[in-house]
This record gives sequence, C-alpha cells and structure tokens, in this order.
Amino acid sequence: MRLSQYLARLGYAPRRDCERWIAARRVTDGAGRPLADRSPFTHDDVRVDGAPLDPPPGVVVLLHKPAGYVCSLQDRPPLVYDLLPSRFRQRDPVLAPVGRLDADTTGALLLTDDGALNHRLTSPRHHVAKVYLATVAEPLRGDEGAAFAAGTLVLNGEPAPCAPAPLEAVDAHRARVTLHEGRYHQVRRMFAALGHHVTALHREAVGPIALDGLAEGAWRVLSAADRSRLADAPRRAP
Ligand code: URA
Repeated sequence: MRLSQYLARLGYAPRRDCERWIAARRVTDGAGRPLADRSPFTHDDVRVDGAPLDPPPGVVVLLHKPAGYVCSLQDRPPLVYDLLPSRFRQRDPVLAPVGRLDADTTGALLLTDDGALNHRLTSPRHHVAKVYLATVAEPLRGDEGAAFAAGTLVLNGEPAPCAPAPLEAVDAHRARVTLHEGRYHQVRRMFAALGHHVTALHREAVGPIALDGLAEGAWRVLSAADRSRLADAPRRAP
C-alpha cells in the first residue's frame, strides 16, 4: 500500500492531502529523512510532522464513557467520538463501538476497527461477560439475585427468557450484575421486570478489561497483553 493511502486510512486526511504532505516532506522516517509515497515503510518508523503515527490497524480503545454521550457515529452530539482524537472517527475501517451503552450509562466502552473482534465480542454466541453496577430507586428486597440467576426472567415484549445473570447486592440500593448477553437496555429492563427503576448504571468491565482507575472521559489503547486477555476471555456462560 502507498504511504498516502495508509495515512488516509488512519484518518490523517483525504488521500490527495496526504500526497501533498508527503511532497512537502512533512512525512519522514524515525531519523527525520523524508519518505516518498512509494517508499517502503513500517508503521512504527513513520512520523508526520515529527510525531509517531496513531495506533496501527487493529486498534482497541477503552473509553470511560461519561453520562450523556451517545455511542454512535451519527447522532445528536455529544458523541463518544467527541472524547477521542478526531482522526479516530475518520479511520477506514472505522473505529466502531463494541456494542452500545445507553446515553445515560457510564463506564467501560471498547471501540475497535477490527470487525472480526467486534463481532466476536458482541455475538450472543460468545457470551463475553459484562459487569455492571446498577443503582435502583427503591431498596433491594433480597429476591433479585434468585430471579436474575434463574434463567426464566422474561423481558417485556421478548419471547425468550434472559440467560442467568449473577447479581450481588453491594448495599441497599446498588447491585453488581454480570451479563453474558447484550439485549437492548437489558439491565434496566431486567430490573424493570422485577418492579425496580434503575437510576444509575455503570459498566465496570468487559470481559477481563476493567476501567481500573481510568478517569471519566479518559481513554487508553489496549496493550498487546490486554488484547490477548480479551481473546482468551471465557466465551461461554458459566
Ligand atoms: N443495559 C442497559 O440497560 N443499558 C446499558 O447501557 C447497558 C446494558
């Protein structure tokens, strides 16, 4: 692939602009030598205006999503992309959210340009565990854990019951719930099926990837070690 095409795919600029940057000697190797559009290159050795490139194709980003941000490329702002470098939404393939969080839900959101990984993590067949901390308006009664674990809870308007979802009460109003599927508004609707209203919902982890102190609104690129933990994550509900 030509260098200009590679840069365009990473979202730097349209291809013609990237060609102009190359002609203007703004694109160099790590030693500062200008690269030509047809030069052989390796990702790690390319600089644009002296800066290393964004992560190579196959990137996975962990974002600590604040409330109010929408998980979509095209919707009314604010969008989760507003929290990321603007180039990230220009990448081809696009950096897409791995599943969705409601606008009101906070916490761990993965985004990737790796379509196969995205499919694997969201496919109902793979059952990657997602851990949520839910706050409910009325105090927990004590019967919620058994109801969520039974595998018989039916959501309004759906024929098939939810898979068993372990629930652990944290205090009078908060419970930690682990889902192995990803139905629309699932946590809120599971609580609604038991007569509870969820007032706050926070996702703590997706599979083995937890926020671990990442500040709200902040993001990081997953390391190779994170990636392999994600690939090895148990895929079947226990
Ligand atoms: N369940 C919900 O109800 N909302 C989310 O954002 C995620 C899971």
